[in-house]
Amino acid sequence: MWKKIEAAPADSILGLTEAFKNDTNPGKVNLGVGVYKDDAGNTPVLKCVKTAEKVLLEKESTKSYLPISGDPAYGRCVQDLLFGEGSEVVGSGRAATVHAPGGTGALRVGAELLKKFTAGAKVWISTPTWANHKGIFSAAGFELADYGYYDKNTMSLDFPAMVASLENVGAGDIVLLHACCHNPSGVDLNEEQWRKVAEMAKEGGWIPFLDFAYQGFGAGVDEDRYSVEQFAAAGIDYYIASSFSKNFGLYNERTGALTIVSPSKEESLVAMSHLKATVRVIYSNPPAHGGLVVSTILSDEQLKQQWLGELDDMRKRIVDMRSALVDGLAARGVDRDFSFIKDQRGMFSFSGLNDDIVQWLKENKAIYVVGGGRINLAGLTTANIDYVCDSIAEGLKK
Ligand code: LMR
Repeated sequence: MWKKIEAAPADSILGLTEAFKNDTNPGKVNLGVGVYKDDAGNTPVLKCVKTAEKVLLEKESTKSYLPISGDPAYGRCVQDLLFGEGSEVVGSGRAATVHAPGGTGALRVGAELLKKFTAGAKVWISTPTWANHKGIFSAAGFELADYGYYDKNTMSLDFPAMVASLENVGAGDIVLLHACCHNPSGVDLNEEQWRKVAEMAKEGGWIPFLDFAYQGFGAGVDEDRYSVEQFAAAGIDYYIASSFSKNFGLYNERTGALTIVSPSKEESLVAMSHLKATVRVIYSNPPAHGGLVVSTILSDEQLKQQWLGELDDMRKRIVDMRSALVDGLAARGVDRDFSFIKDQRGMFSFSGLNDDIVQWLKENKAIYVVGGGRINLAGLTTANIDYVCDSIAEGLKK
């Protein structure tokens, strides 16, 4: 069968990790995939996760199937984190959550479900966006459209362009938004801008689909849900794909969730029935372990506080590395102004390095950056920052 079929290209992010693993250069640095690393260059299991796993080892009594939507305790934890404890959305029962295999799984389940009922709709995606977004929604059969987001000249949000694009979104279309820590740019909307977008969604009758993979990496767990709250207050239908890969470090446990918010509890029950029908024909029911870890931590005040502390440490280390990179490049006499990197949020910086330099860094310095110039700041450490700054300074002179 495969004789006449061309091989598919490597994935632009995960394929880079494979290439990095095969690189024999001892000084290699991976600034590609969005995985947190500590200052020793490791991606450790969080301490709160280790403790929760010990508890589970003792207490877990079955490996029988979970319900299609996942463990209800996990669903409650997801909702409390998304909307805040005691929120109106949770209290009124107008949110339906299923445990999905990671943020990607949540996006795809959402896409499949939407496709059933909004077959003619377009999915609007920011320029730029996470490399996998287009693939996920086109694989579900959607036609895609782009909306303006990032201004390459000012390295910041082009809100007028975003608003102008959103004015063209048809009723019933879907707009994919990054709830915080925009991937790849690290450039977010401010509070007033989020309120405006929520207003536009309500007036335009389109469906916001929030990708919320980095809660806690922007300003903090509570601060980062601002966008989610604006759509809740608008009383409209919207979708949230969330993930515990980054903020709990549960990357390989595929622990995410898809939450649909509806204007009423009655509608939410209908949404849940279709969520379950959609999940059943894709993966039947979710893997348990990651969800059990999350609910064990979030339902124990001491473990929860420990988690929040560990998450703060991750966020602060990334902020420190932003400064170290900007200051390190300036100290090497690089005349291009990189200070915008300090204003970006989350794990990534859209560095402004073009694909020629990205390629040069990979081939000559074994420094791996995603095409388009996205740098994972968490890949920088006190041990490799000088090497990376030297290499970028050299590459910019070419
Ligand atoms: C990333 O953007 O690097 C991460 O979300 C990992 C992935 O699946 O691409």
